[in-house]
Amino acid sequence: MQILDGKLVAQAVKNELKLKTDTLKAQGKKTPHLAAVLVGNNGASETYVASKVKTCAEIGYHSTLIRFEATVDEQVLLQKIQELNDDDDIDGILVQLPLPKQISEEKVINTISAQKDVDGFHPANIGKMIQGQPAYIPATPYGILLLLEHYKIETKGKHAVVIGRSNIVGRPISILLSQNTATGNCTVTLCHSHTRNLKEICLQADIIVAALGKPEFLTADMVKDGVVVIDVGITRVEDKTKKKGYAIKGDVQYDTVAPKCSYITPVPGGVGAMTIAALMQNTYLAATQKQ
Ligand code: GUN
Repeated sequence: MQILDGKLVAQAVKNELKLKTDTLKAQGKKTPHLAAVLVGNNGASETYVASKVKTCAEIGYHSTLIRFEATVDEQVLLQKIQELNDDDDIDGILVQLPLPKQISEEKVINTISAQKDVDGFHPANIGKMIQGQPAYIPATPYGILLLLEHYKIETKGKHAVVIGRSNIVGRPISILLSQNTATGNCTVTLCHSHTRNLKEICLQADIIVAALGKPEFLTADMVKDGVVVIDVGITRVEDKTKKKGYAIKGDVQYDTVAPKCSYITPVPGGVGAMTIAALMQNTYLAATQKQ
């Protein structure tokens, strides 16, 4: 069993981006600039956005954090996004999800300029991605592909089972794994809350992407020997023995599943680390494609 070390691969991606950003600066070109919008004070969202802003600084990007109260009016938020679209210094825009109930995520995503949509959530980017055209690929699926590529994991002809059909992870990774690319050519089964015989389907999988957001859902009896397991879960579970009062749990029961795997991602230190590296890659692309 080999651990897919997301922290290590993410660091390699970030080191390379730092070198390329240093070169941009030395050539007098524009420094990439990411705008992050955070609405409310959801604990997990605060952590993710803080981590994104910190990573920008490590690579040498500029970043701007824009915060709104949870009660913000939708129009006010949409107007701010429009301002960011019109601001030539801003290369990439991300609005951290989820958003409070009074705000339509669909309207927010549709308002972000597709050229600055480094999360890859805009319908124009999703549409291009599906057709295999150049597009911003959502950060978590992109991070998973970078991990598969780094460890030279063969995907061609493999049966990949994706559990979870979210727009952010499950659906896009199911499409990417099925495409005719170096990290694709899988036969993909996309499972969700209405799937029958989930265990039997998982037992046929060569690769499992667990992205349903249920802590320790995938257990050893659901996987065959030699499987590759990608755990996308990052749920906070109350744990009074921890200083913060919670532990981070993946969607995979790691201790029992890992011994059966050829490769597995740990939580933390697996997919989560890669998500930020992939976002940084998209931000570099956004800044340099404009020039
Ligand atoms: N919430 C959970 N994952 C993501 C992500 O990749 N981007 C944004 N903007 N919000 C998220």
